[in-house]
Amino acid sequence: MAAAGSGRPSRTAPPAPLPSKLITACFFALLLPILLTEEVAVADALSIGVNYGQIANNLPSPARVSWLLRSMRISKVKLYDADPNVLRAFLGTGVEFVVGIGNEAVPAMVSPAAAQAWLQQHLVPHLRAGARVTCVTVGNEVFKGNDTALQAAVLPAMESVHRALGALGLQGRVNVTTAHSLDIMGVSFPPSAGAFHPAALPHLQLFLGFLSATRAPFLINCYPYFAYKDDPARVPLEYVLFQPNAGVADPHTGLRYDNMLYAQVDAVYAAIQALGHTDVEVVVSETGWPSRGDPDEPGATPENAGTYIRNLLQRIEAKQGTPLRPAAPVGVYVFALFNENLKPGPASERNYGLFYPDGSPVYNAGVHGYLPPMLVVSNAARQVIHLFTLVTIASVTFVLS
Ligand SMILES: *[C@@H]1O[C@H](CO)[C@@H](O)[C@H](O)[C@H]1NC(C)=O
Ligand SMILES: *[C@@H]1O[C@H](CO)[C@@H](O)[C@H](O)[C@H]1NC(C)=O
Repeated sequence: MAAAGSGRPSRTAPPAPLPSKLITACFFALLLPILLTEEVAVADALSIGVNYGQIANNLPSPARVSWLLRSMRISKVKLYDADPNVLRAFLGTGVEFVVGIGNEAVPAMVSPAAAQAWLQQHLVPHLRAGARVTCVTVGNEVFKGNDTALQAAVLPAMESVHRALGALGLQGRVNVTTAHSLDIMGVSFPPSAGAFHPAALPHLQLFLGFLSATRAPFLINCYPYFAYKDDPARVPLEYVLFQPNAGVADPHTGLRYDNMLYAQVDAVYAAIQALGHTDVEVVVSETGWPSRGDPDEPGATPENAGTYIRNLLQRIEAKQGTPLRPAAPVGVYVFALFNENLKPGPASERNYGLFYPDGSPVYNAGVHGYLPPMLVVSNAARQVIHLFTLVTIASVTFVLS
């Protein structure tokens, strides 16, 4: 401590009068919740993930969506691309992403140089900035159509992306897989008889070998709604909506299924096992129920959609497994976050959202979300707040010392 009157400039400012200390301390107290929000949101997160599709021209900005998702305590998001605006808007939130390489880009990825370039451009800068990306999907539902060139390219493209991750020092940090439509199944009931469609079999043998060797999940898009829509007279609504019902027994295993989603997942497990693999995890990369449809799309109502999502949410948050694997919680991504007005096809396609683009809920999904009315805090502003908070902490510490 400098001696008084030594003539040197004092290193400490004169003590502030008490009111100003109090004001500073109160201000700090007000900012504390903002600082802690991220950690609370992650600690308390839901298990269920959500698909953030963007085939629309009226969606809110990614910054607002990041607030919406955190207000819902959602911490797993699946994208169909690697939208840099989304990945940036979620920096520092702890939300983990599945990003996608679109079908149109899959054939090119077979080239190692192209795969590396894609990762350098779309993934590496975000990972460096702190984004959490746990999985890349190479193509979506490629066996649904009949583009045989695309189908033949998927596995080589996945291998190429996997090797490129290794070359970038990212091995083990990001899974590489693709998402399948349930059309890939030839037999899906009873679940124990589950088998892949013969047309897809030649590809799937090697494909499963890759997933097993790299410990990546098998992603499947499951819509019990389609089964109901195709045959509403014979498919009981209670069975597809997770409502109380007698269920259906699998005659080979004796296991009883009280909902179609779990039966579909177990059929996929059986089909995988029939090809010799027991170590590949099945994840439901999409499931949902439309709140509206065309006249020939029975069951597409807000009431049914709400029942489906609420009941699904309850089971997933209870960490339920399927009858075949009761101890393994099912990983599920709900489709979708918003109604997407530019999706082609029947009306149902544009009405799978939990929310309208203005942030109002389409139905009671059992989880509430808040879309801030405008861009409240951008990333830049967040950083300013953090800096400001640090300065405030420093000055409070200083003043009180
Ligand atoms: C592809 O599928 C469409 C519709 O299912 C069909 O009309 C078309 O003939 C098929 N093309 C080939 C090359 O198989
Ligand atoms: C990759 O997938 C496996 C199997 O689903 C999972 O256990 C693992 O956590 C995933 N890796 C990452 C980085 O998320």
